[in-house]
Amino acid sequence: MNEPDRSTESTALVALRGVSFAYEEGPPVLTGLDFAVHEGRALALLGRNGSGKTTLMRLLSGGLRPHAGRLTLGGEPVRYDRGGLTRLRTTVQLVVQDPDDQLFAASVAQDVSFGPLNLGLSDAEVRSRVGEALAALDIAALADRPTHLLSYGQRKRAAIAGAVAMRPRVLILDEPTAGLDPDGQERLLATLDRLRAAGTTVLMATHDVDLALRWADEVALLTPGGVHTGPAAATLARTELLRQAGLRLPWGVAAASVLRARGLLAESAAGPRTAEELAALTE
Ligand SMILES: Nc1ncnc2c1ncn2[C@@H]1O[C@H](COP(=O)(O)OP(=O)(O)OP(=O)(O)O)[C@@H](O)[C@H]1O
Ligand SMILES: [Mg+2]
Repeated sequence: MNEPDRSTESTALVALRGVSFAYEEGPPVLTGLDFAVHEGRALALLGRNGSGKTTLMRLLSGGLRPHAGRLTLGGEPVRYDRGGLTRLRTTVQLVVQDPDDQLFAASVAQDVSFGPLNLGLSDAEVRSRVGEALAALDIAALADRPTHLLSYGQRKRAAIAGAVAMRPRVLILDEPTAGLDPDGQERLLATLDRLRAAGTTVLMATHDVDLALRWADEVALLTPGGVHTGPAAATLARTELLRQAGLRLPWGVAAASVLRARGLLAESAAGPRTAEELAALTE
């Protein structure tokens, strides 16, 4: 069952309304889906392998076209012609799961400059955007390196820099932390915090419930019955929904119930999301 947030519908930057989709000759992947990305949110999309996260993200960024229902941008239906798709891509940027599906130019700087060049911007503007994006992802030193010689984590950052150089209002990341080491994950989260502070809305697909609890303010769980969207902590405490989505309880939610049972945390108080928050609660 879908649970669209009617109260804030008008502020959705980009949304799927009643969308159904199936790949050629395949079974339906998404049916009657309502999904909205609201300005300023950190939204995590979770669901089991094959539940349709990547498909949903490709529908949101215009790479796939719904068979029924529609994609809206600022409340207006998106037209799938050149002008409509250009408008969509200057607002919404998708970074795909595998960086090798995204990177293709010889060097990092060339790859990151591809999108801005395609917008017809001046050389000076392109240079400034590339410099800004490489700095944001902490890979300025890699600018002239051939993309195929980079490590996996470096290629992930280069792929994200290519999207950031488009200065999208909505950045969509398909499993951006998969394959990153702990320090790489922390640095990516810090980068996302900086982008969000500068006004970028971020949607991330992940299987990591602990990361979702810590990072997201809203989560969407994809289950066979549809998508369930709500505040991160409350939604990630819904055990039956998590089970349907093939996920376990985040440790922070489990810790909160232990603390509450022992009278160490008020029923109404927020549970810990990190080890530091747990330490602070039990001081
Ligand atoms: N190009 C394609 N052609 C045909 N079927 C596809 C294609 N891409 C995905 N599918 C099917 O669509 C369904 C949803 O796949 P999708 O990639 O959206 O899932 P996902 O939630 O991103 O999974 P994962 O967690 O493994 O990345 C799956 O059943 C998959 O087999
Ligand atoms: Mg996927």
